Amino acid sequence: MNFEEAKIRIAALSTALHEHNYAYYTLSNPVIADFEFDQLLNELLALEKQYPDLITDNSPSQRVGGSITKNFQTVTHRYPMMSLGNTYNEQDLIDFDLRIKKQIEDNFEYVCELKFDGLAIGLTYENGLLKQAVTRGDGSKGDDVTANVRTIKSIPLQLPVGADYPANFEVRGEILMHRTVFEQLNKDRDELGETAYANPRNFASGTLKMQDSKEVAKRNLDCFIYFFLTDNSNFKNHSESLNKLISWGFKVSPTFTICKDINEVHDFIQKWEKERFDLSYDIDGVVLKVNNYDQQQELGFTAKSPRWAISYKYKAAEVETKLLSVSYQVGRTGAITPVANLQPVLLAGTTVKRASLHNADQIEKLDLYEGDIVKVEKGGEIIPKIIEVNKSKRDLFAQKITYITECPECHTPLIRKAGEAHHYCPNELGCSPQVIGKMQHFTARKAMNIDSLGDETIEQLYKAGLILTIADIYELKNKRAAMLALDRFAERSVDNIIAGIESSKKNAFEKVLFGLGIRYVGETVAKKLAVHFRTIDALMQADFESLILVDEIGERIAESVLQYFSNPAQVQQINKLKHAGLNFESSSIEKIVEGANLKGLSFVISGVFSNFSREELKEKIEANGGKISSSISSKLNYLVAGDNMGPSKLQKATELGIKIISDEELFTLIKNLPL
Ligand code: IVH
Repeated sequence: MNFEEAKIRIAALSTALHEHNYAYYTLSNPVIADFEFDQLLNELLALEKQYPDLITDNSPSQRVGGSITKNFQTVTHRYPMMSLGNTYNEQDLIDFDLRIKKQIEDNFEYVCELKFDGLAIGLTYENGLLKQAVTRGDGSKGDDVTANVRTIKSIPLQLPVGADYPANFEVRGEILMHRTVFEQLNKDRDELGETAYANPRNFASGTLKMQDSKEVAKRNLDCFIYFFLTDNSNFKNHSESLNKLISWGFKVSPTFTICKDINEVHDFIQKWEKERFDLSYDIDGVVLKVNNYDQQQELGFTAKSPRWAISYKYKAAEVETKLLSVSYQVGRTGAITPVANLQPVLLAGTTVKRASLHNADQIEKLDLYEGDIVKVEKGGEIIPKIIEVNKSKRDLFAQKITYITECPECHTPLIRKAGEAHHYCPNELGCSPQVIGKMQHFTARKAMNIDSLGDETIEQLYKAGLILTIADIYELKNKRAAMLALDRFAERSVDNIIAGIESSKKNAFEKVLFGLGIRYVGETVAKKLAVHFRTIDALMQADFESLILVDEIGERIAESVLQYFSNPAQVQQINKLKHAGLNFESSSIEKIVEGANLKGLSFVISGVFSNFSREELKEKIEANGGKISSSISSKLNYLVAGDNMGPSKLQKATELGIKIISDEELFTLIKNLPL
C-alpha cells in the first residue's frame, strides 16, 4: 500500500474504530466482536508503524497509550474550575431553596445529578477534536494530563463530523474507576506486595498521574461528563446542554433528572440513597443545579462556588456490631491479613459478617479489645471496615487483641521488614496456603492459563499429596491412578487436566516468568525482563546493576529477583520445569530493520526521556544496527542519558571516558549527521 492509499485506509479505520469504541464503552452496546475490533486496531497499528507521518494525536491507536509524560505541564484554566457548597441535611437544602426563591421571581427548576466520587477533569475540544485534558488543581491552574486521558475509552477523541457543536468548547466531568476494576487491580497489587489503594478514587487519581500512558490504558478508567462551557452558548439551560453532549457522543449519566421543586429533589435524594449501592461505581452524594442559564447568571457566584448549585452529601452507611474474633489469613506471598469476624448485621442492604483490619498497625490504631462493640462502615470497598470502637460499651475484663507472632498455618515465626505494613510468613515453600496460592497463580489465566486445573482442584491435589510444588504439576501425567482414586475425578476430567498441562508448555517465556510468582514481578515486569534478558539463564546471572538498567526495573524489583534466584530450592524447581519442557527463552521476535548507521556501536540507555520510553529507544538502536549493552564498561561507545539517572552510572561513564549523549543526539547519529 502506498502513502496515499494508506492515508485513505487509516481514515476509514479510524472512523470505524471511533464508532465501535463509542458503541462499546459509552452505549455498552457493541456491534462487533472483540476479535474483529482487535483486527481493525491491529491493521491501523501496522499501517501507522509503516507510515508514522500519518499518526494523529486523536487516532484510535492513542487509546493504547505509549507516550511518557515526565513532568505534567501546569495549565491555567480558561474558565476557573469552581467547587460546590456542601449540605448534609434536609434543612440546609430547604435554606438553599429559599435563598434562590428570594432572588429569582419567576418559576425555576432544578436538574439533579449524581455526585460521582472521582476526579474532576476539564476537556477542551477544537473543531471536534480533543485538544487538552486538565485536572482541577487549585481551581485556577491544573495539570495537563492529555496523553493519559486519551486512553480513557469513554472520552471521545473525535466528535462526529457535521454535528452542531461549536468550534471551541470545554466539557467538565469526573474520571473514576469502577469498583470491580478496583477490586481486581488492588488484589493484583496486594499480591505483588505493593501497597493497596484505600478506595477507587485514590486509585483513579494515582493512575491519572502515571508517567507511562500504556499503564494508564490498562487500568480501564471511565468518565462521566456533567458540564458544558463555551463563550456564546445557544442553549437555554443545563439539561439541553446535557442532551446535546449525549448526541455528540459524550458519556453523560442517564440518571440526571429535572425536578420541579425541592420536594422532587428530596425524592431523587431518597431514591439514590438506597440505589447507590447497586451502581458499579461510587457516588458520595447528589448535585442540584438551577437549570436555566439566565437564572444561573442572575444568581452568580461566591468566591469559591456557584450560588445556583449545591451538593448534598450522603453519610457513609455505618452500623454497630460486636467483634467476635480476629482471624488471620495467609496470602500467596506469605503476607498476613487480619480479618474481624463480626456478629452478623444488616448494613446498606447486605449482611455483614467480616470486616478487613488491614494490618497490625490498624489494630493498634483502633485499640481493639476482644468482644468490643465496633462501628462498621461500608464505603467504596466491597469488604466493610471498622472505623471506631465504642469504648463505653467495653467489658471491664476484656483482653486487648494482640497480634500473632507465628504463622497460623505452619507456625513459623512471622517477620516484618522495616517500612513494610504487613507481617510475613517466610516459609515460602513449606506453608500450605502459600504453596497452594503459588500453584493457583501459576495456572491462572494471565500466567500458564491451565483452566482444566482450577483453584479447588489444585487444593484437592495438594491435600492428597500429589502436587507439592509447581514442578510437580508436570509430573501429574504419571499419577493417573492416584488421581482417579480421588473424589470427583473421572477418566475424562483427568484427561482434560493432563491435556491442559501439556499444552501449557507452549506458553511464552514471559508467561512462565510471571507464573513463578516472584515478588513484585507482575505481568508487565515479567515481559520487560523476558524481552531484555531473553533467557532464564541470562536473567539468573544478572547482577543488581544490570537488572536496574532494564526499563522500569527499580531497586526493589531487582532485589526481589536476586533474592528469588539465590534460593537453591527455586533454582532446583526451575531446572525441573526446564526438564519438563517449559519455555525459558523468548522466541526471537522479527526485528525491524531501518538502516545500518549504528553498526558496530554499543549503547546503554539510562534515565527517563520525555518523548520516548527506554524500550522505544532500544528498538530504534537495534533497528539501525546498534547493540544494547547491559552494563557500562570501557568497550561501550555511548551512554544515552535521560533525566534522573543514577549518579554512580554517570560517574562510571565519565571515568571511563564514554560519550554521553541525549536522545536527540541519538537521532542525529541515526541520521548519520555529525553530533
Ligand atoms: S458540577 C461549578 N456535577 O464535585 C460546579 N460536580 O464539589 C462544577 N462532582 O469538583 C461542578 N459529580 O469534581 C458537578 N454531577 C456533578 C458532579 C460534580 C461530581 C465533583 C466535581 C467537583 C466537585 C465539587
